[in-house]
Amino acid sequence: MNRKYRKTVIAGNWKMNMLTSEVKAYADTLRASSGKVRHCEIAICAPFVMLPRLIKSFRDCRIAVGAQNVSDKDAGAYTGEVSAAQLRDLGIKYVIVGHSERRAYYGETDEIVSAKVRAALAAGLIPIVCVGETLEQRERGVTEEHISMQVKLALGGVPAEKMRRVIIAYEPIWAIGTGRTATASEANEVCSRIRAVIRSLYGARIARAVTIQYGGSMNASNAAELLSMPDVDGGLIGGASLDPEHFAAIIEAANQ
Ligand code: PGA
Repeated sequence: MNRKYRKTVIAGNWKMNMLTSEVKAYADTLRASSGKVRHCEIAICAPFVMLPRLIKSFRDCRIAVGAQNVSDKDAGAYTGEVSAAQLRDLGIKYVIVGHSERRAYYGETDEIVSAKVRAALAAGLIPIVCVGETLEQRERGVTEEHISMQVKLALGGVPAEKMRRVIIAYEPIWAIGTGRTATASEANEVCSRIRAVIRSLYGARIARAVTIQYGGSMNASNAAELLSMPDVDGGLIGGASLDPEHFAAIIEAANQ
């Protein structure tokens, strides 16, 4: 973290878990267990159907609500899709774009990811853009190349004045949901590489201001170490965000 230059953002990614009927109890416990949030921003990214209930439950506190996906189209005959304007209208602040699960299971290409990033920004949402390498890519030594390419393609067409609103989440695929976390220095190395790519595209001032999260089996026991790294500006947390007490402990680590 480097709070002098950029925001620390801790975001929970519920994926396809939880029920709307469980939201209130979750919110009550999270509020009771997390102290005053001073130094970071908190968000919960939930399935579409739960978003209105989450917004209601967190109305009076500093926890923002995010979606996990958004359409790349503005409006029209796209059955089953949800637009960025519809999310914004509901009071949504963040949206996860290009998560590796969407890339792997739902055919999201770099081109689609880039269109979604632009759609999110145009509607005033903050996109959390996910990038990450497979284990095979890491072992072949092409992590940097792969991540640089993903970042460049995702940011295609994003003008400098909008870039400060973009969050990048570095999520090594081999660490997601596996209990195997990147070491703090591995995470920092890639996050700092991502910042270098942003610097080459947008210059040093913008690169310094962009929040870059780490995600992949982050939990209450490893969060403090990961967040102590200079280029790791927060976390995107799957499994450990489903338990409000665990999630509160991660928030606490970011709040130090
Ligand atoms: P995990 O998921 O924390 O369960 O590894 C992170 C993510 O996929 O965003």
